Amino acid sequence: AATVAFHGSRQAGIVTAQQDRLAFAAYDLTVSGSPAENRDALRELLKTWTAAARAMTEGKPVPGDNDIGAAPPADTGEAFGTPPANLTITIGFGPSLFDKRFGLADKRPAALADLPHFARDNLDATRSGGDIAIQACSDDPMVAFHAIRNLARLGRGTVVMRWSQLGFGRAASTSDKQETPRNLFGFKDGTRNIHGDPKQLDNWVWVGKETDQKWMRNGSYLVARRIQMRIEAWDRDFLTDQQNVFGRHKYTGAPLSGGNEFDAPNFHARAADGSAAIPPTSHMALAAHENNGGVRILRRAYNYTDGVIASSGELDAGLFFLCYQRDPRTQFVALQHKLSRSDALNEYIQHVGSGLYACPPGVTSDSGYWGEDLL
Ligand code: HEM
Repeated sequence: AATVAFHGSRQAGIVTAQQDRLAFAAYDLTVSGSPAENRDALRELLKTWTAAARAMTEGKPVPGDNDIGAAPPADTGEAFGTPPANLTITIGFGPSLFDKRFGLADKRPAALADLPHFARDNLDATRSGGDIAIQACSDDPMVAFHAIRNLARLGRGTVVMRWSQLGFGRAASTSDKQETPRNLFGFKDGTRNIHGDPKQLDNWVWVGKETDQKWMRNGSYLVARRIQMRIEAWDRDFLTDQQNVFGRHKYTGAPLSGGNEFDAPNFHARAADGSAAIPPTSHMALAAHENNGGVRILRRAYNYTDGVIASSGELDAGLFFLCYQRDPRTQFVALQHKLSRSDALNEYIQHVGSGLYACPPGVTSDSGYWGEDLL
């Protein structure tokens, strides 16, 4: 059965070849004691969650009694007998975890600065934030859902699930061995993502010695954005315009400056009529590292659909954008400031949910637990 190692100096689920399915959940702690008591409760929770995550990623049930007739089983059971299908469970801590409740204010990394308001943001507070986030990815949707459900259950009394999101098809590739998938606008997504190059990962994804918080070394920062896509309006747009929005050909994924999917775009190339072959307001031109002082991010997005928007009757669907980076202030925030003002894509999208989380380093032994250096 396909498994991804849980133990490691860095958490799995970040550079791991992207699985097909996502179950994401943000949780809030419900503690009401002194900071020291609350920290103890948080430590217990993280120990319990780590043990459960370790077992589930290995394809084993949640540890505990599963066959006592007079008690509910420790594991909820819906993934019994199902292989883990590359399950990874990745944890992150939101800015709110560093407030007065836990006395952890002096452990808050400077890079975990609250995200600013961006132009056109229309965020729903009930789909944003959270003290702790869990990203569960697997090639089997039941396995991914089972993970977030069982963590919620194990934490009952200490945490409640604040919001969650299922993703049904990966919309990025994180390895050059993966074919580039498509997003709901029908375009290949992930072509120029970071695809495992260790130098780029060290430069742009993994927190190193520069951090002001030692407990974050070998960790990474996750930004989550629920981005609604106006599918009906998009589907009425003509092909040339769709391609100009992204700066790429729809079917081949090649840049509009020519060549094949993986050829470098030429932002100086001219079309026959003398205009820029890749429009300067296209999503690619605005997001490309060449036009952003070299800045890159690791994208790990998923497509989603959640039924129908009651007020308009349109599909509630879009991209659950996840990206990992070494410092959101100079990476996601810098890029999104620019995109939110000028991206041709803005006519067809709206950011409706948001989260920022500090993902600690990995767990290296059977006795270790998530966040132990923080607590
Ligand atoms: C590239 C789609 C939002 C950052 C691309 C590409 C597509 C795409 C089709 C070109 C293929 C590729 O290289 O992967 C979308 C859609 C979005 C969205 C549909 C929203 C619904 C965002 C956001 C950011 C972002 C919010 C960051 C703030 C990037 C970057 C690239 C990229 C850095 C690579 C550009 C390059 O170097 O060529 N996106 N994207 N995207 N996108 Fe997005």
